[in-house]
Amino acid sequence: MARHDAHAGLLLLLPAAAWLLLCARQGVGAQKVRVEEELEAYPNESVDLRCQFIDGGGRTKLTQVSWIWEPIDGQRDNIAVYHPEYGQSFPNLSFKDRVVFLHNNLENPSIRISNLRMSDAGRYTCEYATYPSGNEQGTSTLVMLAKPKNSAKVVTVQAGTKAVVVAQCEAADAKPAAAIKWLASVGGNHSTSTVNGPDGTVTVRSEYRLVPTPADDGRELTCMVDQRTQDRTWVHMLRLSVEYPPSVSIEGYDQNWFVGRQDATLVCAANTNPPPTAITWTTASGPLPDTVEVDANKLTVRNVDDAVNTTFICEVRNKHGVAKHQITILVTEKERPVSSGPATGAIIGGILGALAVLGAIVGLIFFIRRRQDDAEGPPKHKPPPPVKSGGSTELFNKPSEPPAATEMAPLSPGDVYYEPTGSEPVRNNGGETSGALNGGGPPLPDDDYDLSSADHHEPAPAANIARGESFVSPAIVSSPQYPLSS
Ligand SMILES: *[C@@H]1O[C@H](CO)[C@@H](O)[C@H](O)[C@H]1NC(C)=O
Ligand SMILES: *[C@@H]1O[C@H](CO)[C@@H](O)[C@H](O)[C@H]1NC(C)=O
Repeated sequence: MARHDAHAGLLLLLPAAAWLLLCARQGVGAQKVRVEEELEAYPNESVDLRCQFIDGGGRTKLTQVSWIWEPIDGQRDNIAVYHPEYGQSFPNLSFKDRVVFLHNNLENPSIRISNLRMSDAGRYTCEYATYPSGNEQGTSTLVMLAKPKNSAKVVTVQAGTKAVVVAQCEAADAKPAAAIKWLASVGGNHSTSTVNGPDGTVTVRSEYRLVPTPADDGRELTCMVDQRTQDRTWVHMLRLSVEYPPSVSIEGYDQNWFVGRQDATLVCAANTNPPPTAITWTTASGPLPDTVEVDANKLTVRNVDDAVNTTFICEVRNKHGVAKHQITILVTEKERPVSSGPATGAIIGGILGALAVLGAIVGLIFFIRRRQDDAEGPPKHKPPPPVKSGGSTELFNKPSEPPAATEMAPLSPGDVYYEPTGSEPVRNNGGETSGALNGGGPPLPDDDYDLSSADHHEPAPAANIARGESFVSPAIVSSPQYPLSS
């Protein structure tokens, strides 16, 4: 596919550009042999070297045409000759079976070279012997390209204190040379080296170095290769492999092993890479008691007795070393009382304290409400039915606002809590009344006062009253308007 793309480039872009260039030159007068300036090709492909003799007046006599290959300056090898009478000749052995004339024609001696090799790169000159002007020629440059062979790999290392190579990336046998970049989630740096191959290709290698720590194990490192023949950057993600000796801890002891307890367990937690080759449980006094079962890193005591009133040791080994950890078990005669822990006491104390504060708040609210109801008189003792209450709201609020259907309907306490019906009329009633309504308290908030936030712990007295009332009945929600309007 990339080869096709490259072909398309050759067939479309280069000839067009080269032709334009050469036509411009011919306008100046000298060039009568038209060729393409530069061509690119890959090994094992074939390339067409086009050539054409342009004779404006038609008075030039063409005798013979040759293709001359110049791999390096100064070395000229005839690879293809055409003579109208004597025919075709391919004098160079290394091209002999790989070159053909595309047309048997002196005016158009284009050739095709197949099975290209990197070493075919160089200049190819289409040279005419003419009369009377002598030799006429045009030269094409053939650029041989090579895609890099890309690879990347991690180098498994041991954690340490010196920077070492942890990853390698290579773009081999490329022409032109590739460029290697790294994208790293770790510290460190890289060095890149270049080796020239005998056929003109280049191998680029890059090594990534860092001081490896256990934490670097598994971290990502990405190698990226850019090269002219690649449609896009080659990207290869690696995961670092850092090995280290084990570190061990014993987990699972809850400080509550008592005689008769079932299935008490300890877990030997080891951080190791590579995985442990051995996990060994022992006690400080020697081998494990018979009552203990061991399954890899897990130790289970089916029935706790004073045989496990001892120190357990877990030892973990991998190829880089060995580490152990120990824990001393204290077996008690009786189970530790669960509720006597200081943490539990604190929690219970906290709950009791919170309940006390809550009770005080509730008591205060009822006290305030009671005093207000006493001041307001009758409405408190004869709560009107909900519908009537809506009617009275309508009556006293008019003509400012027709009652909405929701205000008319019997309201459940929950509805009232969130509906602004209780306080909305108050806000519409103007400044001079709000003070009276408030019973001499702080003035009510302005119209842009946010009711929803008032419902949530806002200290404004009006909101508190509305909320308290709403729990009793919808009728009382509108009760503040009674004294206001009468
Ligand atoms: C990168 O390499 C240089 C030279 O070896 C070294 O001095 C430097 O500390 C390295 N930087 C890091 C981040 O490893
Ligand atoms: C376990 O050993 C401790 C002393 O190390 C001792 O006080 C305790 O009584 C022992 N528990 C039992 C159940 O024997």
